[in-house]
Amino acid sequence: MEFVKPTLKDIAEMIALVEPEVKKGVILPRSQEEMANTIRSYYVAKVEGRIVGFCALHIYSPSLAEVRSLIVKEEYRSNGIGKGLVELLLEEGKRLGIEEVLVLTYQERFFKALGFSVIEKEEIPNPKIWTDCIKCKHFPKCNEIALLKRI
Ligand SMILES: CC(C)(COP(=O)(O)OP(=O)(O)OC[C@H]1O[C@@H](n2cnc3c(N)ncnc32)[C@H](O)[C@@H]1OP(=O)(O)O)[C@@H](O)C(=O)NCCC(=O)NCCS
Repeated sequence: MEFVKPTLKDIAEMIALVEPEVKKGVILPRSQEEMANTIRSYYVAKVEGRIVGFCALHIYSPSLAEVRSLIVKEEYRSNGIGKGLVELLLEEGKRLGIEEVLVLTYQERFFKALGFSVIEKEEIPNPKIWTDCIKCKHFPKCNEIALLKRI
């Protein structure tokens, strides 16, 4: 298993991998164009050349970023791949000068184990609400939990 930066050629496979979770409303849909625009924000996990997981770090400001679209293929879960992906993004964020990393998720225990703490929804930065949340089928009645980590 290896963690690598994806290329534009990986986008179709990434969209296919995330589709079941998009259908469940767990992860927001992203178009091919949006993923191409932001391809540099992703890391993928590969096993024998096939993508088994990925995650992105979206930067909002000189100090704040967000963990987005974390997914590990069902049969590869509980092997540390999710943790490895998030840790790589946190390292990258730190290297770039990010101070705080936000996540909106149903996976509270997973992110708490990685050092994130629950915050109030009112503390979520506005750009997230207007650019992302309005695209979500659960908006505005969102049950996701917001967590933040200082890095
Ligand atoms: C959340 C998800 C990415 C975790 O990936 P994973 O590769 O199975 O996670 P890991 O094996 O790295 O687990 C890391 C730690 O979190 C724990 N953990 C993993 N999934 C968990 C869960 N659903 N609930 C509670 N704890 C969990 C593991 O026990 C492990 O703890 P340990 O290090 O003490 O052993 C995966 O379950 C997934 O793709 N879920 C569907 C999509 C989703 O919900 N994404 C989050 C969107 S923000």
